[in-house]
Amino acid sequence: MRVIIRETSSEASEYIADYIISRIKSCEPTEDRPFVLGLPTGSSPEKIYKTLVRRHRNGEISFRNVVTFNMDEYVGLPRDHPESYHSFMYKHFFSHVDIPPQNINILDGNAPDLAAECASFEARIARYGGIELFLGGVGPDGHIAFNEPGSSLTSRTRVKTLAYDTILANSRFFGNNMDHVPRRSLTVGIQTIMDAHEVVIVATGAHKALAVEKGLEGGVNHMWTLSALQLHPYALIVCDRDATLELKVKTVRYFESIEQSGTDARTQGPPLVYRPRTYVPVPVGVGKFHQRQNIPQIAPQKAPKDLRINTEFNPSMEDDELTPDSMSSRMVDSAIGGLDSTLKGDLFFDHMGSRVVSN
Ligand code: GLP
Repeated sequence: MRVIIRETSSEASEYIADYIISRIKSCEPTEDRPFVLGLPTGSSPEKIYKTLVRRHRNGEISFRNVVTFNMDEYVGLPRDHPESYHSFMYKHFFSHVDIPPQNINILDGNAPDLAAECASFEARIARYGGIELFLGGVGPDGHIAFNEPGSSLTSRTRVKTLAYDTILANSRFFGNNMDHVPRRSLTVGIQTIMDAHEVVIVATGAHKALAVEKGLEGGVNHMWTLSALQLHPYALIVCDRDATLELKVKTVRYFESIEQSGTDARTQGPPLVYRPRTYVPVPVGVGKFHQRQNIPQIAPQKAPKDLRINTEFNPSMEDDELTPDSMSSRMVDSAIGGLDSTLKGDLFFDHMGSRVVSN
């Protein structure tokens, strides 16, 4: 794990924006070989998005060949609600850059079948060959995405009930009224994040200091899901000075010494590997869920005027192949279990984000 410490949150955000730009550029993405980027919401990434937008406007970076997957979304909050993560992403990022609408993937917290929506999301990630770089924030209780304390460290995209701490923390976006905060979310799982080729976490502010300490210095523990990244081969945590307040001086000095020795994390990312889109098959005997359940078609909600990109996900033929099953270990593209050996050859990503190079 690499830890980069900057004095202020602005400097930490600049660092991450630089890093993302450098990774996208080194990948030299094309339409057929896009850069697959996982993205978060929250106050912490706001400055990162601002910097990315500014540098896009300066002509330094294009997102035309970038495909994004957002970490999470509230359940039941209308898409055009100002606090939905759809609204957040368009307001702070998507509306200001050249990413094609069809390249944007955000979980639909109003889907008629939430389990199917989660399975579809995982399948869409798999079809792109996995996520190259997953950017995330961290909650004060150490959660990443909405993987609250106690979440399985092998979890995949699913419905998650929010913890009291998170409802309290996020009530600031809902007029400080906890009753207005949705109680449930759709979120990528810890394993979904672990499968990304690299993970970059932004942690800023003294209120994140305990989470950073538990995540970095404590053992791997499902009560502080950030700590799972200790097992990731390419995890980078970028903090401001305040977020390091609970770390041992020794820990801080060690991570600073790595940078002082001339090792720049921005040029030390994992080797970029081309992972082609792939067909994710469905095991025999499953996948007819939709037909069996006769799920009613719900009219898509109208996109608000200020959200200029239409994000409607058009269910395609491919979705009939999904296995809408909340038991993540039984999902068709699971890298952690339940994978029929006859299907393994069709998948291009394996456990812990390591990649298979295609010929
Ligand atoms: C929410 C999001 C997380 C985010 C966390 C921290 O719970 N689901 O993805 O990391 O908030 O947000 P903030 O950066 O506002 O502290």
